[in-house]
Amino acid sequence: MTSTNAFSNLQKHIPVVGDMSSKSPVAYRATRFAAGIVNTAQMTLAEAYINGLEIPDSVFRAAFHTSMPILFKHLPGLLAPYEWVLNESDHLAESSRELMEVQYDRPQAMLNRMLGDWQVIYPKYSTGFWQNGAVDLEESQMHMIDQVIERLEIVDGDTILDFGCGWGCVPNYIMSKFPNVRFTGLNLSHEQCEYMRRKMQDPESYLSSGRFTLVEGDLNEVQFAEKFDKILSIGVFCHVGNLTNSFQKLASFLKSNGKVFIHIITARIPNNMSSGFTHKYIFPHGRYWNHDAVPSHDRDLKTVQRWYMNGINYHKTLTAWLERFDESQEFVKTLDYGMDYAKFRRIWRFYLLMLGTIFATCDGEYNGNGQYLMTHA
Ligand SMILES: C[S@@+](CC[C@H](N)C(=O)[O-])C[C@H]1O[C@@H](n2cnc3c(N)ncnc32)[C@H](O)[C@@H]1O
Repeated sequence: MTSTNAFSNLQKHIPVVGDMSSKSPVAYRATRFAAGIVNTAQMTLAEAYINGLEIPDSVFRAAFHTSMPILFKHLPGLLAPYEWVLNESDHLAESSRELMEVQYDRPQAMLNRMLGDWQVIYPKYSTGFWQNGAVDLEESQMHMIDQVIERLEIVDGDTILDFGCGWGCVPNYIMSKFPNVRFTGLNLSHEQCEYMRRKMQDPESYLSSGRFTLVEGDLNEVQFAEKFDKILSIGVFCHVGNLTNSFQKLASFLKSNGKVFIHIITARIPNNMSSGFTHKYIFPHGRYWNHDAVPSHDRDLKTVQRWYMNGINYHKTLTAWLERFDESQEFVKTLDYGMDYAKFRRIWRFYLLMLGTIFATCDGEYNGNGQYLMTHA
């Protein structure tokens, strides 16, 4: 027996430490109990901050830089505050409508300022890629999409489905590079679809080229008559709770020799993770899949290549979003959030600061983005 196996066997009986899937029933229950305590502590801190507790950003960051490496390396089971984080859900995506209200249909003038809105790069709500020397957020997003083009092997003439297409940034940029590519974009957010409908009337936008079809709908229910050469999905599978059924669905939309590219936040730990704060205030039923989850669901689609994008990329992106959010206060405080603006601002600062810091811990080696190239199994 190797020493790794000996440790796996030992941790089966030790609560809290290591992989949840290998725990004995007693150690599992004890770990679940401890995860509840950690979650309560985190929620207490989050709600104190939301209700006005002054914590300097530097102290906030130091607290996460100290605690997260311990949790990632030794106690990852404590990062799963609820049982559902560890298991596949009934629906492809749970709480979709609530997610739109809490997150994606928030005042667009605020989101667009935070994310950036340029000539070709529309608001893009996923990481930029900074490692190729990008000098700013806009360029980091171009570099990120360039990488998708290369890894998904997009060629002119492809028909592509963007599953969860945001504001149409990725289709717009790719169509600017390939004059014969056709895109279909799926999105449940009515406000984001309204943005794209305006661009579809704007002669300066590639979304108005007649090569872009917009489908406002829920990935739980959507069906397409057409099959696609390529399917891409960027930053959406953190909202998908059932990989088995969603891959079955994607496979049914894909031509026999087609390719799928999934880009999502992942954690290089044995279990999936989430947080009580993000579930309640930011992404209802959102989860970060562990980095091996996608390839371990090789039933209808199989992973033929995978990459890990270091978390420093998302750290830089979230830091840019936080700066832009802070800089736009004078304007965005006048918009209607359905709650006191000071409270809204604190919820979003907590979110941007927390995530931005966590991605930077352990030099970005534990929490970053996973990219998966898939074909029919
Ligand atoms: C994090 S954003 C990423 C958007 C885009 N791919 C990008 O990179 O900018 C997630 C997107 O998925 C969409 N989405 C989330 N849940 C969905 C669902 N159940 N059905 C359809 N779209 C959904 C959201 O409205 C949002 O546009």
